[in-house]
Amino acid sequence: MSDPLKTFLQWLEDAKKNPSIKEPTAMCVSTVDASGLPRARMLLLKGADERGFVFYTNLESAKGLDLRAKPFAELCFYWNPPGRQVRVRGPVRPVTDAEADAYFESRAYWSKIGAWASRQSRPLGAYAELERAVAATALKHPLGKVPRPPHWSGFRLEPESIELWEELPFRLHRRVLHTKNTSGGWDAQPLFP
Ligand SMILES: Cc1cc2nc3c(=O)[nH]c(=O)nc-3n(C[C@H](O)[C@H](O)[C@H](O)COP(=O)(O)O)c2cc1C
Repeated sequence: MSDPLKTFLQWLEDAKKNPSIKEPTAMCVSTVDASGLPRARMLLLKGADERGFVFYTNLESAKGLDLRAKPFAELCFYWNPPGRQVRVRGPVRPVTDAEADAYFESRAYWSKIGAWASRQSRPLGAYAELERAVAATALKHPLGKVPRPPHWSGFRLEPESIELWEELPFRLHRRVLHTKNTSGGWDAQPLFP
């Protein structure tokens, strides 16, 4: 039985090796807001294995609030060339504090400062307001250890389905929906493209 996670990881490696793909880990992440309407935005994938697909963000952002109320999302990757799309759907859980701390620690100093300074998704007056917040945060943590903000962490999407799509000539693309079955394996269902 084919393993869609293995194929995903191979396709991601192929994209990372391809110099014409600038952001191989970029993915569109769709959530559902309080009124049941979709919201989509690009994020960077920070890990993928049998446990799921990991991304990091501000927990008080629009997506953070969406995921708190409705912990379910869909990810969509697209790599061109060679023309491959992967859609991954499933429930989303917070990563552990230890995992978030370890990833935050690996970030560059100014990215850590930015995580404190940006009140992500909330209204900003003048751009100088953000610059002032960055400067004030940097003064508080001058080149020393910057702790992870309590409002910043990660989520792991545990895939219930993975759809693999490959571009073929004349729009006769290969499209296979893989759904997790009760024994933990994957059922594969080809779909009309
Ligand atoms: C290529 C790309 C990668 C991004 N990666 C992230 C990310 O990993 N985490 C994040 O919080 N925002 C990231 N952003 C910004 C988000 O797209 C978005 O603007 C922000 O998270 C606020 O989204 P929200 O208001 O829907 O919560 C990225 C944007 C782009 C274009």
